[in-house]
Amino acid sequence: MKLKKVDALDFELSAVGFGCWAAGGSVVWNDADDDSTLRAIQRAVDLGINFFDVAPVYGFGHAEEMLGRALEGRRSQVIVASKCGLRWDDSHQIVNNLRPESIRQEIEDSLRRLKTDYIDIYQMHWPDPATPVGESMQALLALQAAGKIRHIGVSNFSRALAEEARAYGTIVSHQGLYNLLEHNPAHYHSIPLTYRTQAEILPDCLEHDMAFFPYSPLFQGLLTDHFKAEHQFDSRDVRSANPKLNGSLFQRYYQIRAQLLDFARQIGKPLSQVAINWLIDQAAVTSVICGAQTVAQIDENAASASWTLTADMRGAIERILQPHHDLLNQ
Ligand SMILES: NC(=O)c1ccc[n+]([C@@H]2O[C@H](COP(=O)([O-])OP(=O)(O)OC[C@H]3O[C@@H](n4cnc5c(N)ncnc54)[C@H](OP(=O)(O)O)[C@@H]3O)[C@@H](O)[C@H]2O)c1
Repeated sequence: MKLKKVDALDFELSAVGFGCWAAGGSVVWNDADDDSTLRAIQRAVDLGINFFDVAPVYGFGHAEEMLGRALEGRRSQVIVASKCGLRWDDSHQIVNNLRPESIRQEIEDSLRRLKTDYIDIYQMHWPDPATPVGESMQALLALQAAGKIRHIGVSNFSRALAEEARAYGTIVSHQGLYNLLEHNPAHYHSIPLTYRTQAEILPDCLEHDMAFFPYSPLFQGLLTDHFKAEHQFDSRDVRSANPKLNGSLFQRYYQIRAQLLDFARQIGKPLSQVAINWLIDQAAVTSVICGAQTVAQIDENAASASWTLTADMRGAIERILQPHHDLLNQ
């Protein structure tokens, strides 16, 4: 497995990482199966993947429990990144909350579910406009001093908010929406984004020697060989709420995906590996957190690291994307 390093961290991260949203189970992702997910995570470790991204809200605690189970006896071999700042009630309504007392509660729940006594990178999942970021940072710094977290990261923060947070302490990583078809996305599902990934966040990470973790690197499954145009997500699947995977907007993404799939076939590689390598190639990208639910999926995704895109291949991809500049920034 290819490894990547940034100055902010004293360990190396696998270029292909593992995203655990679908490990949250069938309450959030079509057909997610616990046994299959456990095998996929364990296979990932066997393949040299050492970076696992999770959050309490994924499956309302379930994804952290699954990761904790899958890593039993192997915790010290891997880097675990979890998050705080999205709480839910009994009816699974989610609210942003980065208040210090909430963070102090969340970390205890996460450590218990993950069966660990520390989290390597603890990320503020989304901004909480009701809480000054300095107050959240003070709570996180106290957790760091207590050894419950090793490093602090941010996710979905604007560059200005990341800068504000950095005034209180070191931020080692940023996580944001970024893939072949979403360069500077303005929305994630129906949530307006206050950052532009390629234009603002990647240069910011390079400037501050921070890691960058691109999320939804496979466009939630669209950038793979197996996605079907008639794909239906049931109403519990989070992808049913993604306008880019449904309706007329979806048709445009699907057409570009068809051209990228043709290109992938010409070079004899799966589309997933083209999408992952397009990210791995970039200096600012540290670990590509691909979701996977089966051993076959993680085998295919991990094998991306065994080859690289040539300059000619990158040129061919740019020629496919160039006429769709507007879509890449929606
Ligand atoms: N910070 C944030 O706000 C945020 C937001 C979103 C995601 N994330 C993180 O980023 C991670 C990845 O993003 P994501 O889960 O949205 O989407 P993704 O990685 O773009 O897509 C993952 C899905 O694609 C399908 N897939 C994966 N590999 C495949 C392969 N080789 N062949 C065919 N299908 C394949 C699987 O779904 P099917 O088999 O069901 O098609 C899988 O669940 C998450 O797990 C999470 O850790 C963070």
